[in-house]
Parts: sequence; C-alpha cells; structure tokens
Amino acid sequence: MSDTTPCAGLLCTHPALQARAETLCHHYALARIQRAPEQGYFLQLVNEGLALHNVGSKDMSPVRVDFVGGALGHRLRFGGGRGQPLARAVGIKPGFNPVVWDATAGLGRDAFVLASIGCPVTLCERSPVLAALLDDGLQRARLNREIGDWVESRMTLRFGDSARQLTTLTAAQAPDTIYLDPMYPAGKSSVLVKKEIRAVQQLVGEDRDSQVLFETALQVATRRVVVKRPQRAGPLHDRIPTTSIESKKTRYDIYVTLLKATPC
Ligand SMILES: C[S@@+](CC[C@H](N)C(=O)[O-])C[C@H]1O[C@@H](n2cnc3c(N)ncnc32)[C@H](O)[C@@H]1O
Repeated sequence: MSDTTPCAGLLCTHPALQARAETLCHHYALARIQRAPEQGYFLQLVNEGLALHNVGSKDMSPVRVDFVGGALGHRLRFGGGRGQPLARAVGIKPGFNPVVWDATAGLGRDAFVLASIGCPVTLCERSPVLAALLDDGLQRARLNREIGDWVESRMTLRFGDSARQLTTLTAAQAPDTIYLDPMYPAGKSSVLVKKEIRAVQQLVGEDRDSQVLFETALQVATRRVVVKRPQRAGPLHDRIPTTSIESKKTRYDIYVTLLKATPC
C-alpha cells in the first residue's frame, strides 16, 4: 500500500452512542477524537450510523455503507438477479449458490449483490476505516425488516488480511469461490470518479501486494477464483484466465481451480 491519506479517527458526541463508539474504536484500532479535523478524513458516529467525512473536499456529503437505501437498494430491486455477469462469474447456477469469500470487501457492494442472490459471503477487509463502515452498514441492515434475515444469515465480516486469513481455513471451511477486486491505479479521469471510489483509493492506495493474495486464493478456492478488472486492463499479474465474462465497464476473469471432485 502507498500514497494514502490518513483518517484522523472517530468522533462521537452523542451520549447514547458512546459504548458503540468505544467498541468500534477498540475492534478496528481507531483513534477517538474530540473534534473534527480542519482538513482530511474522519469518521463520525451519529444516530443514522457511521459516516466518513472529508473536510475540505468539494463534495461535502459523507460516505456510508448503506445496504438498505441508496444505490445498493436500487441495484437489489433492479440489478438483474442471478443472470447478471457478476453472478455468472462466481458460478451461480440454477439450484447452486457457491460459498464466496470476498477477499477485497471495500464498501461491500459486490458482496451485497451476491448475498442478495443467495450466496453465503464472507467479507474480508483489512482497512480499519472501511471495515468499521462495513460493520456499521451490516449492523443496520440486520435490523431491516425486508433484508435483515438474509443479511444476518449470509453476510459475515472479517477484519484483517485475506491472504493470511485464508491460509488458516480448514479444508471444510474453504470457500467454493474467492472473489478479488484489487485497487486499480487511479487513472487520469480520477477527478470524475464517484466520491466513494475516490475515498477508497485515497484511504488504501494501490494494492501493490495483490500477487500474494492472488496466489493464496488459487491454492484455497475449491472451484474458482474470480478477478474483477477494468474492461481494458490486462489480466492480473499477466496470468491468463480460464475464461472471462464481460459487462459494460468491467471484465470478470475466471480461474478454475476445481479442487472439489463433484461437478457444480
Ligand atoms: C476496489 S476495493 C473493493 C471494492 C468492493 N469490491 C466493493 O464492491 O465495494 C479493494 C479493497 O480491497 C481491500 N484489500 C486489498 N487487499 C486486501 C487483502 N489482502 N486483505 C483484505 N482486504 C484487502 C482494500 O483495502 C480495498 O478496500
């Protein structure tokens, strides 16, 4: 990781939310701050949940993980279901929902789509700030009447380095599919990218160690590893995939591992 912008810490002034703020700071090793910084990123816990602010940026609206409303709620209702490229890429078939390990969870958008279709998904994220935002988004989604039950049963968050965590799994715990969406270097058009993507780019930088994760994933996934790539980018670390599935701006490179003897 490199060229990152730090996050000052977590601010919470609401008396009723102090215990939750302490828990988040303890679990994700975040600093507690008493006031907003004059410049840059900080987290704030309010009644509506945890929000990432960027003081001094043009777009003042905060970044949250919102699985209930916003763009994800819309994608859930109109996103194309089991036939969409992401679903086909991870190996969803009639009557079969692979167990997926999302090794680069980010803001949890891809994981949420896969879980909404029926896949049990482990979301693993190593950035403390993004993991805390995911924790908060999942906690609020579990309380939602429409989606709470399946979010609770299908979406599990793990904080830490996926490469390390994957190697601790027993054979019985190994996922069918490991999904990778490593940070791609910010291009010239980066001023135009959405604030969520820009925030992730600035907080975590480029994933320069993605080769270790990729090699580990290929050893652990029992059926396939899927790598999300920008449409025009070459395959990750020049490794030719078994096959690819294309969508408008994205390509999913599929590496079949098939450690399981039974066909899917
Ligand atoms: C491009 S973002 C993923 C976006 C995600 N697919 C989504 O739908 O929101 C990449 C994320 O992977 C995380 N990451 C990269 N390498 C990782 C690793 N070895 N273990 C855990 N997280 C990792 C980064 O911190 C970053 O948040």
